[in-house]
Order: sequence, then structure tokens, then C-alpha cells
Amino acid sequence: MSDIQSFRQSVEAFISARGWTPTRFGRTIAGDPLFVFDLREGREPRSETRARISRAMQEFSEPVELTPLRIGVAGLGNVGATLVRILQKDGVELTRKLGRQIEVTAVCARSRSRDRKIDLSGVTWFDDPVALAKSDDIDLFVELIGGEDGPALAAVKAALEIGRPVVTANKALLARHGVALARLAEEAGTQLGFEAAVAGGIPVIKTLREGLGSASIARVYGIMNGTCNYILTRMGNEGISFAECLKDAQALGYAEADPTFDVEGYDTAHKLAILASLCFGCEIAPDEIFVEGITRISQADIKVAGDLGYKIKLLGLARRSADGIEQRVHPTLVPKSSAIAGVDGVLNAVALETDHVHELLLAGPGAGGPPTASSVLSDILDIARGTKVPPLGVPSAELTPYVQAPMREHEGGYYIRLNLKDVPGALAAIASRMGERGISLESVIQRPDLRVTDPAADNTQTRTVVLLTQSTMEATVRETLAQIALDGFIVGEPQLIRIETL
Ligand SMILES: NC(=O)c1ccc[n+]([C@@H]2O[C@H](COP(=O)([O-])OP(=O)(O)OC[C@H]3O[C@@H](n4cnc5c(N)ncnc54)[C@H](OP(=O)(O)O)[C@@H]3O)[C@@H](O)[C@H]2O)c1
Repeated sequence: MSDIQSFRQSVEAFISARGWTPTRFGRTIAGDPLFVFDLREGREPRSETRARISRAMQEFSEPVELTPLRIGVAGLGNVGATLVRILQKDGVELTRKLGRQIEVTAVCARSRSRDRKIDLSGVTWFDDPVALAKSDDIDLFVELIGGEDGPALAAVKAALEIGRPVVTANKALLARHGVALARLAEEAGTQLGFEAAVAGGIPVIKTLREGLGSASIARVYGIMNGTCNYILTRMGNEGISFAECLKDAQALGYAEADPTFDVEGYDTAHKLAILASLCFGCEIAPDEIFVEGITRISQADIKVAGDLGYKIKLLGLARRSADGIEQRVHPTLVPKSSAIAGVDGVLNAVALETDHVHELLLAGPGAGGPPTASSVLSDILDIARGTKVPPLGVPSAELTPYVQAPMREHEGGYYIRLNLKDVPGALAAIASRMGERGISLESVIQRPDLRVTDPAADNTQTRTVVLLTQSTMEATVRETLAQIALDGFIVGEPQLIRIETL
């Protein structure tokens, strides 16, 4: 960080901690109300101005009564109500740690009458999140409504436009509008915190933005959806079907009534897009991600993978390759011996492979009121302390356009499950097609107990065969399977699961 940048940060932290406006500070201390704006634009202050500011900051740094940080919370659901509860319960301890009181002064939700088990006496109620975001009664706006557009976007923009710091847990909003919002925050000289938007209670954004600031990230991958991890874990441990596990997940509140967004991998893709942008300094591109969900994973897949020393996990993975950035979300065979294979149930984990610290695995609760509210609170505390970092790790003007590495060129091992017609020579014909395309097979597994019936089979006698390939290009595998289907020896869609070397 340049000298002028660090001077600017210390001046802005000083101003914000005292609840002053930059103009008031400039007028009373620098004798120049526009001084702080000059600093923001990177203009060096005159040396006598700088000396005067430094002296004044020293004098004013003598113990002062810091003004409370007044927070407006929009959205009082699972996360929002928990946040208010924590702030009310732990307020004294937080004030002691921070030297400054944090006070929820205003809130907003749809229903005024809903019992949220929080004390809202003395707190101003707003029906409109945008009005709350702009209100003069708050210093910081917390968005916990959800949704990529609509009131969440309007309110976050309204706050940033007037230079008010924002904290949000909204991954959909960030994945879709993160770059524009980061730009808005930078232009207004304010902060945008979104720690809770990726992997709930795991401090992965802070680790990337601050902890690993100088490291170069080679690959990031993780289990970022607790619903999918819960389902796959139970399928593995108890031998029950996807449908049964999903029903239990819904009964326990781990899955939505419409689970599509989670089980089809889109939720993981949103989080991966945010992470990849922070890791590789590129623009966020959720629509460019290759996404496959877990709905086609069968007990046969789980069992064979287990016998071969693997577990199946829904991974989101991004890495820089010679062709651009590879971003993909799909069920993955991971070695049982890998650290991520041990992350079970609703837990999440994110692994970061860097040049200096090699692999770092952060694991913990990825969702739920208290873990998510704890990440929201961590952003609030940073802002209260005056910490300033560009929202996406680098200034948004420095983000590079996203260049997508084609999925067809992905190289790795593949697990292929086929429903083979029970006719002589079928397996030999398939092995020969693989050989023609240069695909080397590591294992061929046929077990009568693994029969997976395919609706397309009608009365055709089939047997289930699993092939494990050595490292091969995705395009070659797909073209070979298309040829095998044309040969007429298989019934239904082949199951293809990528193997990741970890
Ligand atoms: N839950 C988690 O574990 C988790 C984890 C990570 C991130 N997140 C993110 O955190 C955010 C909040 O999630 P949540 O689970 O707390 O959601 P939630 O329980 O559905 O709560 C949403 C809240 O927003 C309010 N709301 C909805 N539309 C509104 C509008 N037009 N104006 C004002 N208020 C409105 C609702 O009001 P009413 O209560 O009156 O209906 C409710 O209080 C989402 O972005 C989510 O992706 C959640």
C-alpha cells in the first residue's frame, strides 16, 4: 500500500470512529473542507496540511468518547432476527472489545405483527428498505432480505450512493451485481462487507482479502452447500436413496420446499463465482460456470466409489489454466484420504491452494442463523473499527475481464456408469471404442448387486458396469460415449462423474 493510501486510510478511520463527516473534519482541522476528497482521489496533500492533520489526529487520539455506531437492519428472518438478538445479548461485551457501542436503531421487514422473539422497543420501524437505507438515523445499513434484484438491490444501492457502508449476506445479489456494487462503494469511499455470503460462518472472504493478501492462489475448491452435503453424506452412511434423504432434509429445515436451487448446484455456483473473483482478480461471472447437480447420484455410484477409495461430494472448483479460468460445479469423486472427504453432514469447507502456504482448508457451518449472523457481525465490527479494503480484494478498475476455459478441454479421470445390454461382446465393444480414442481404463467393475434399472430399459436385460478412466480430455470422453450410444450396446444415459486429484 502506498504512503498516500495508508495516510488516507488512517484519516478516514479516524473520522469514521468519531462519527464526523469528512467535511466537518476538513473544515475544523485542515482548514480545507475538500481536503479528504483530494486524498480519496489520490492527490498528495501539501506538507504543512499533512503535518497539521497528523498533529491533530494525535491530540484527538487521546481517549475520546466514541459515538455509537447506529445500525439499520433490513430483513428480520432467520439471519436478521438472530443478528439483532446477538447484538442485544452481547452488546456490553462488544462495546468493551470495540471501545464503541453498536446500536440497532432501525429495522425493516414485511410483517410488523410477526413475533420474532426480539425486543424492538425504541427501534424505528420502516416498511420500505430503501427508506431505511437512506435514513439519517443510521450509520450502517445491513441487508438481510435476500434475492438478486428487487428491494435488496435497490436498498443496497441507495445506501452506497450516499456513501453509507453496507453489510449483506446475499450471495445472489453479490454474484449478479458484485462488481457494480463494489465500484459504487469505492466511488463513494465507503465499505461493502459480504463475509456471510459465501460459506455462512466460515471467514473465507476475510482470509482471502486480508489474511492471504499477497499469496497467489492456484486453485480454490470447496463444499459450499450444506443441503447437498447432508444428502450425499446420508446416502453414503445409511445406504438410502437421494429422494429419501431429500425428504428428511426438508423435514429438518436443511432444504427448501423447492430444493432446485441447492440440489442442481446453482447456489454453489453463486458462491464459487464470488470466490473465483477474489482469488483471481477477475470479474464475477456466475452464468459462465459449468453446473451439474446431484439428483442423478445413485446408491450404486456411492457404493462403487466407496469400494474404490472415494467419496462423492458436490464440489465447486475454480483454477487458472492456460486457456483462462476454469470454474465448475459438479458431483466429484474425492479420495477418502483427502481432508475435504472428511467434511460431512451440513458442514461446508473451502480449500485454498496458494504458492506460499500450500493448502489451507477452512471448514465449519455454512448456514444457519447464528453462524451466518456471526459473519455479518464480523463485517460490522470491521467497519466500526474503520478498516478499509476494496470489496473484491483489488480496486474494481483493476479486475480483469473473465476468460472462460472451455469445459470440453478439462482433463481428469472419469467415473462412467453404463447400463449395458446383456448381449455377448457388449463390454468388449465398449472397451474397444475407448481404446480407439486413446482412453486408458484404470478399472472395470461389474457386480450383479449393483443393477441400476433405467426407465429406458423396458424389458431389456441389462447389467451395470462402471469404468474408471485415467486422465482424459472431457471432449474425448463425451464423443466416445456418444459413439458407444450409437453402437446400441447401452440403454439410457451414461452416468459421468469427474474425479479430482486432491
Ligand atoms: N439462512 C441462512 O442460513 C443463510 C446463510 C447464508 C446467507 N444467507 C443469506 O441471508 C439473507 C437472509 O436469509 P434468511 O434465511 O434470513 O431469509 P428469511 O428468513 O427468508 O428472511 C427474509 C427477511 O426479509 C424480509 N423481507 C422480505 N421481503 C421484504 C421486503 N420487500 N421488504 C422488507 N423486508 C422484506 C422478511 O420479512 P418478514 O419476516 O416480515 O416476512 C424476512 O424478515 C439471504 O440473502 C440469504 O441468502 C442466509
